[in-house]
Amino acid sequence: MAKREGYVCSSCGYESAKWLGRCPSCGQWGSFKEKVPSTSAPSLKKATPIRLEDVDLVSVPRIRVSSSQLSALFGGGLAKASVMLLAGEPGVGKSTFLLQLPAFLDEPVKVLYASGEETEFQVADRARRLGVEGVWFVATRDLEEVLQTAEGLGIELLILDSVQTFWVSKELGVVGGVAQVKAVCERVVEWAKDKGVTVVMVGHVTKTGVVAGPKFLEHMVDVVVYMEGDRRSPLRLIRCVKNRFGPTDNVVLFEMGATGLTEVENPSSFFVQEEVLGKSGTVLSVMVEGLRAFVMEVQALVAPAVHPAAARRIASMYDVKRLYFLLAVLEKHLEVHLSGVDVYLNVPGGIFVKDTGMDLAVALAIYSSFVNKKVDERVVAVGEVGLAGEVRWVRDMDLRLKEAKSFGAKRVLIPKAFKGKIAKIEGLEVLPVGSVEEAVEVLF
Ligand code: TYD
Ligand code: MG
Repeated sequence: MAKREGYVCSSCGYESAKWLGRCPSCGQWGSFKEKVPSTSAPSLKKATPIRLEDVDLVSVPRIRVSSSQLSALFGGGLAKASVMLLAGEPGVGKSTFLLQLPAFLDEPVKVLYASGEETEFQVADRARRLGVEGVWFVATRDLEEVLQTAEGLGIELLILDSVQTFWVSKELGVVGGVAQVKAVCERVVEWAKDKGVTVVMVGHVTKTGVVAGPKFLEHMVDVVVYMEGDRRSPLRLIRCVKNRFGPTDNVVLFEMGATGLTEVENPSSFFVQEEVLGKSGTVLSVMVEGLRAFVMEVQALVAPAVHPAAARRIASMYDVKRLYFLLAVLEKHLEVHLSGVDVYLNVPGGIFVKDTGMDLAVALAIYSSFVNKKVDERVVAVGEVGLAGEVRWVRDMDLRLKEAKSFGAKRVLIPKAFKGKIAKIEGLEVLPVGSVEEAVEVLF
């Protein structure tokens, strides 16, 4: 007897290892037939080659976005027939952003918001608060039902909240399981391309890792944006990490308020509190995120250890391992003896620091607190610190200096590598330093 090869939908050709009552692809009932084993070798259909210079370049049709920053993030608007994944931890504001998305568009677009996790009352209540009107809503976990509804309404933008809460086939296991989420994503991508509809899906990320999460989804979709932010701060950052229709690395900053998210035009003012400037332990720096630079405040507090045998090193919005690294450099090269003291470090504002260009400011803030001497409030320090205590080159120095100037800084400590290599900025004194020791000599 010939070996079974699985089942195929006689309506749309969808293949499945098991017999299904309803096709997850086209929604047809009772259409699954046993696949007939092929008796001949598969025919190799040849694709027609074309010389690249002969390809007509057509620009991707897009849904225009009114905010210039968001438009740039998406590469000039939301590409039609594209699928975007918005990933982020629970509670960061994904649902809020997506419900507001129609308000950020520059043209009237028919939007369907499908939720597998919230009721119409919850979403309608939020929509009122956000002042959002004209959005269609459906609460279901059945993806085919959503897609049929979208087709029936002639929807141009479909929002799925979230990809982990929909199912296409009960045969594929639990809703939110890897197989189910993968199948949901596959079906959505296929549908979006076929119907020319733009789809934005929420993907939850958990703190402890990714459960059926966006990592494998990232490969399947066209655009991936991450929403980040600290619960204690109203600041939210949206970062584009993948874009088949535009650049990546852009970021847009929002403030979460009582009426949803509003774009932050001047982020530096967000990160710096004027009152603490010029106090010991506080040093300014310029952080680069994507294509943007922000002036950030670094706060350090060095105090006698509560338990001298187990001195504390605590970092907030900063990598504690990097803090250990910089403490070792200070101990070795500046004779800052830290064994009997607790060190606390905080970078206020709610954006986790990954930029090593902030190293010098962190080292100087700790030193400033240790010796209890202030740093001039109009001084900004930029540079990566190496194990030999040297101040190293960092990227985007011109961008950082421009931001420092517009913030109102007067003097900027920069790595020696830039000496004579950067354009002069009127009213901004640059001080190239080769090491942390040299920076300390300049400032204290
Ligand atoms: P939500 O969009 O539900 O997050 P997610 O979908 O990522 O889980 O919003 C999360 C938080 O935002 C919630 O704690 C309440 C807050 N919020 C505001 O502060 N202002 C608002 O206008 C809205 C709608 C929410
Ligand atoms: Mg949500």
